[in-house]
Amino acid sequence: MKKLSLAIVLLLTPALAQAWPWSQDMANQVSTKPQESADPTHPGMRLFPKRSMPVPGTITIVKDAAAADKLKNPVAADDKSVAQGARLFEIYCVPCHGKAGTGDGLVGAKLALRPYDLSAEQTRQRSDGFIWGYLTFGGAVMPTYGNDLSPTERWHVVNYVRKVVQNAQAIAPVAKK
Ligand code: HEC
Repeated sequence: MKKLSLAIVLLLTPALAQAWPWSQDMANQVSTKPQESADPTHPGMRLFPKRSMPVPGTITIVKDAAAADKLKNPVAADDKSVAQGARLFEIYCVPCHGKAGTGDGLVGAKLALRPYDLSAEQTRQRSDGFIWGYLTFGGAVMPTYGNDLSPTERWHVVNYVRKVVQNAQAIAPVAKK
C-alpha cells in the first residue's frame, strides 16, 4: 500500500518526479554542446576565431535596476516597435496590468499587492531605463522577464507603454509578418 501511494504521489506531481537523476540522462550526453569546445586539451567555451571583432548592438546585460535606470532607450518608438510591444504586452502584461495597463487585470485582482497603474503619474515620471530594468529584474511581486523577453523585446514593451498606455492612444495594429 505504501509503495502504491508513493507511485501515485509521483504520478500526480510530475515536477517532483522530474527531480530524479535519470530525468537528466538525455541531456547529459557525451555530445558537444553549443559553444562547447570539442578539443579535450582546451575544455570550456570555444575560443573566438582570430581577428574577430565585437559587433555594435544593444546592451544586453546590466548589473542591477539602478544601472538599468541610466540606460538610454536604443530602440526608436516607431510604429513597428510599438506594434511588437503591443503583441508582447497583451501576452505578458495584460493578465495583471489589464488591457489598458491601469492595473485591473484578472490575475492582478487576486494579488495581495495590486499591480500598479502604468498610466499613472508615478510611472510616467520613470525613465525608459527604469521600466526596462523592472522587466529585467521584476519587483516585489512582479515576476522578472529577463528570460522570457529579449533585451530588444523589452524595449518594444517600453515603447508601447510610453506611446499607447501612457498616451492612451488606440492600440497600434500588430505588424504582419
Ligand atoms: C503577476 C502579475 C504581473 C505581471 C504579469 C506583470 N506585472 Fe508589472 N507589476 C505587478 C505588481 C504587483 C507591481 C507592483 C510592484 C511590484 O510588485 O513589483 C508591478 C509593477 C510594475 C511596474 C513599476 C511601476 C512603477 O512606476 O514603479 C512596471 C513598470 C510594470 N509593472 C510593468 C509591467 C510590464 C510592462 C509587464 C509585462 C511585461 C508586467 N508589468 C507584468 C504585477 C505584474
